[in-house]
Amino acid sequence: MSTTRFLTGITTTGVPHLGNFVGSIRPSVAASLRPGVQSFYFLADYHALIKCEDPARIQRSTLEIAASWLAAGLDPERVTFYRQSDIPEIPELTWLLTCVTGKGLLNRAHAYKAAGDRNTAAGREADDGVTAGLFMYPLLMGADILLFKAHQVPVGRDQVQHIEMARAMATSFNHLYGAHFVLPEAAVDAHVATLPGLDGRKMSKSYDNTIPLFSSRAQLQKLIAAIRTDSRTPGEPKDTEGSALFEIYRAFAGPEETGALRRQYAEGIAWGDAKQQLLDRVDQAIAPMRAQYQALIDRPERIEQTLLAGAERARALATPFLRELRRSVGLRSLAPSTGASVAKAEKAQKAPKAALPAFKQYREADGRFYFKLVAADGRLLLQSTGFDAPREAGQAIRQLQQDAAALQALAPRLVPVDGVDRAEVAAALQDLADAAMAE
Ligand code: TRP
Repeated sequence: MSTTRFLTGITTTGVPHLGNFVGSIRPSVAASLRPGVQSFYFLADYHALIKCEDPARIQRSTLEIAASWLAAGLDPERVTFYRQSDIPEIPELTWLLTCVTGKGLLNRAHAYKAAGDRNTAAGREADDGVTAGLFMYPLLMGADILLFKAHQVPVGRDQVQHIEMARAMATSFNHLYGAHFVLPEAAVDAHVATLPGLDGRKMSKSYDNTIPLFSSRAQLQKLIAAIRTDSRTPGEPKDTEGSALFEIYRAFAGPEETGALRRQYAEGIAWGDAKQQLLDRVDQAIAPMRAQYQALIDRPERIEQTLLAGAERARALATPFLRELRRSVGLRSLAPSTGASVAKAEKAQKAPKAALPAFKQYREADGRFYFKLVAADGRLLLQSTGFDAPREAGQAIRQLQQDAAALQALAPRLVPVDGVDRAEVAAALQDLADAAMAE
């Protein structure tokens, strides 16, 4: 089974609320547990600097948001979980992308345009108070995504344009310097609920109507008491439609519990009783996470360690990839290479070798060992199933290298690749064998 790489960034400003939990944290943690998925989730603290100039808050938010995701069940063994500012390759790639991206593309970014419109409406110069950071935001985000060759980027609708911009940057870089980047796609989950806030509008910090995810039971009770209801008295049937209380309950309850509350609404439950049920339901869901969250916050050095370990895993991919990208644009060593490699380079110059297909061996998140054959132009030709040991995968590769007939024998260990037929694979294997003979 081929894996899909999901990547998403979490801007580290503010404390997460129930709306963030239902709309982002909970579905992302669940998605990371699905088979065939490889997840990269990171704390976008460079992005946070665009909005926040308070160093203490930046640091505190990073801690709180990391703790929230971990308390909500994110498994840092399964998910590559890291802090953006621990990956120097991200700002480095940002510059490479900056140089292939039209300024006009950035002019069209919604967030930048909105800032300009607000200024113009207020009679100020369009760029008044707009930092170059806000303007460059899509480039930094493009680097986040392209550095890790993400296929799918789970985001809210407001971020879709940024993913399209990342595709545009990748396309223009690939066009100039060769096929280095994967073109990412936005993954907008239409099923994920948006939670109403205390006043019935979407729960959002900008409306000041949120319920913090890790409120104590007492705080939770106070906030739930403040949820707006109508003036219907106990005994009068109530509408579930448009009831923020009901919607929040539904986001935390199973279908049976939700059905039961719906009946009670029809039977005229008192608002006070409905609020009590909501409090109990949400508190029951949150309580174990709350304890976990507190334990994490109390030991920040453990979170630090988790993030550094994540960064190390992320950089194991980022560092060699950036080396490749630097080379591709011409940022290369000037020193003559030594002995053997000089001879090799000269030979290569005299008789330029046709680009060859190549076998790639790798390990997946499921712990098994795989290989694939990719054509010189990067197209996938052959994909193996998982092997228990790297040695077995290596052996299968050698069989294929020695004899194209092994294709038949190994068929059960290979997954069909759309649009590639056996003859093309056999021809690629033959090319490899010919090249080996010529060595
Ligand atoms: N801009 C995103 C937001 O505000 C956060 C983010 C930063 C992000 N880098 C990313 C999301 C890369 C997805 C991929 O929500």
